[in-house]
Amino acid sequence: MSFDLAALRAQFPILSQVVNGNPLHYLDNGASAQTPLAVLDAVRTYETTGRANVVRGVHMLAERATEAYEGARAEVAAFLGVVPSEIIFTGGCTAAINLVAYSYGSLLKPGDRILLSTLEHHSNIVPWQLLRSRSGIEIDALPVTDEGRIDLSALPRMLTPRTKLVSLVHVSNVTGASLDVKTVVAAARSVGAKIMLDGAQRAPHGPLDLPSLDIDFYVFAGHKVFGPNGVGVLWARPELLEAMPPFHGGGSMIGRVTFAETTWAPPPRRFEAGTPPIGQAIGLGAACKWMRGLDWMAVHAHEMALTQRAMDGLQGIAGTRILGPSSLQDRYPVVSFALEGVHTHDVAQVLDSFGVAVRAGHHCAQPLMDHFDLAGTTRVSIAPYNDNGDIDAMLAGVEHAAKILR
Ligand SMILES: Cc1ncc(COP(=O)(O)O)c(C=O)c1O
Repeated sequence: MSFDLAALRAQFPILSQVVNGNPLHYLDNGASAQTPLAVLDAVRTYETTGRANVVRGVHMLAERATEAYEGARAEVAAFLGVVPSEIIFTGGCTAAINLVAYSYGSLLKPGDRILLSTLEHHSNIVPWQLLRSRSGIEIDALPVTDEGRIDLSALPRMLTPRTKLVSLVHVSNVTGASLDVKTVVAAARSVGAKIMLDGAQRAPHGPLDLPSLDIDFYVFAGHKVFGPNGVGVLWARPELLEAMPPFHGGGSMIGRVTFAETTWAPPPRRFEAGTPPIGQAIGLGAACKWMRGLDWMAVHAHEMALTQRAMDGLQGIAGTRILGPSSLQDRYPVVSFALEGVHTHDVAQVLDSFGVAVRAGHHCAQPLMDHFDLAGTTRVSIAPYNDNGDIDAMLAGVEHAAKILR
């Protein structure tokens, strides 16, 4: 296999747009990536030839819809290297973490502890705070290093026999730093804690082999892996899913309902109450299949070359401060920076006038911003379809912002 950038870009019609008089340079992939034709076609096929509810119907369209929905589950499972019955479709990554916090969390006792980190997205903080207010668990947070990595040297002192779960970001949405999973797993297992990884920013950069990570829960979002929004994934070990009570109650998740007592369906149905996001799940299945068709050795090299180009260029602009590892080692293509004396929204606005889409603000990581004593950063996040032109347009925009705003 190889990597033909022009052919890949042609699969994303949205990229050929003109924005503010300039070609679109979409560098906000960490917020939401774009969808290829293969995904749009899969959703269109469902909507035009097989739109019906899943599981319940016996007519032809219902059977088609169920087949496509379960086919999508199988595609997601293949993307993660696991079996389909371990895949739960959720409303998103946030919804998946809330499911674990509520359901697995209900098995915890007052005084049990959850270990997070200062690098977490609010999605992996607030659900645990809600659990804390309901059930009296305690939350600990690993510190971060100056490089914007989770400081794993603190693991031995922060893990206790009461630590039941270590829940950490696999790749940071702010610094791009990638977690040393092996070290975390070894330490967590030594106190009998379970491990969850927030894969929202890792999953968009290629298929995974979850069994080799030896973790317990993995979550990610459809819209960041070139699929639709409104859908996400929870993977968990089958014995954990089996032990967990439902999160939401309603249709499809039951065995038998009487007013005296209701029994639960086995996973994954137990955790998919009501009508699921059917078209979105089918699109996500198509996105996972599309991703598995790419040559990730070549794509990763391309993404990291663009990352280096962005970092080198930004370093050459006086007053920029890049958050995150200075080398490409254990790093993914997210580059956050502050421009001294300039509000990050102003930088993003100037970039928008250059046709460059980036994210500005705290990135739902306020504890991290507090740590670095910043109100926010400007974030460039790169996808396989980006090219040198995108990076160079961004650099020209930042240079212009530095000139006119400082
Ligand atoms: C690291 C990380 N975790 C969780 C989320 C939440 O994803 P969603 O808003 O799709 O639920 C995001 C989204 O930006 C993220 O970057």
